[in-house]
Amino acid sequence: MITVESISKNFNGKPAVDNISFQVKDKEILVLLGTSGCGKTTTLKMINRLIEADAGNILIDGKNVRDQKVEELRMGIGFVMQHSGLFPHYTIKQNIAVVPELLKWDKKKTENRTEELLHKLHLSEDILHRFPGELSGGQQQRVGIARALIANSPILLMDEPFGALDNITKADIHSEFKSLEELKNKTIILVTHDVQEAFELGHRVCLMDKGEIIQIGTPKEMLYQPTNDFVIDFFAENRLLLEYKVATLKDVNGFMDSENEYKEFNFDETTSVWNALQKLSSNHKNTTHYEMLIKAFNEYRKLQIV
Ligand SMILES: Nc1ncnc2c1ncn2[C@@H]1O[C@H](COP(=O)(O)OP(=O)(O)OP(=O)(O)O)[C@@H](O)[C@H]1O
Ligand SMILES: [Mg+2]
Repeated sequence: MITVESISKNFNGKPAVDNISFQVKDKEILVLLGTSGCGKTTTLKMINRLIEADAGNILIDGKNVRDQKVEELRMGIGFVMQHSGLFPHYTIKQNIAVVPELLKWDKKKTENRTEELLHKLHLSEDILHRFPGELSGGQQQRVGIARALIANSPILLMDEPFGALDNITKADIHSEFKSLEELKNKTIILVTHDVQEAFELGHRVCLMDKGEIIQIGTPKEMLYQPTNDFVIDFFAENRLLLEYKVATLKDVNGFMDSENEYKEFNFDETTSVWNALQKLSSNHKNTTHYEMLIKAFNEYRKLQIV
């Protein structure tokens, strides 16, 4: 568990992070969401002490990060930097092997693990002897992720890990990301300014503005129990789409004419209404099902909005 207690950071007398507190439970994905300059990166970097907090405490499993040696602290935390953060004069192979070198892994172990990760992240082995500048932005980001995952540390801090990807690649990577077994046992803080990404990946979302936390909650809570107008306005542009994404078939089941209607499509209760509609829309024979689901969703939705 990560506990952040009243941390603050000023740069040149101006607060970048202003007295914020939150907790991340084991195996949880918490997303830090907010517009540019709101303090997301600063918050993330205080956890592994790339930036030292001016005030407050950060505890990992009850231990204050300040009481640990920086190198030891960072060994237990995988870090994906904004804009990949690869060393430009190291090859991809050397970049990925930075932590294994520190841990004195033997060469074979590093090679095997590198190969495994490249495969999982859909990167070809051809890139191993290239330099970061010879890769596309999206490839560099995936190498950054491989580097953070290699030592299998229990905590992962990810700063806009998918920022350089187009929406289609992003959607693919999101579903891959959610199904990666490697990540299921990790406690993850992921930074993004992409609202849809936050809802797609976060168990909970922490919405920040001007160095402060405005609201922390599940995606559903952010939509249906907003604490103020800032939260409502922040999600307004994508609202309907987000509602389709957070509603599951379980939520809308009670509003369906027949509960067993969808058996033949292999959906389970946790399938989002959005994903179900996408699958149904791929075949015109499913038009009736499609329309029924939208109707059920609208009934459900009416009861959520206060
Ligand atoms: N090293 C620094 N020196 C001075 N000011 C800084 C420094 N690092 C960050 N800041 C300022 O602190 C504020 C928060 O920056 P931070 O990088 O945490 O924002 P962010 O939410 O990650 O933004 P983005 O989405 O653009 O990455 C900004 O106003 C930024 O200009
Ligand atoms: Mg940032």
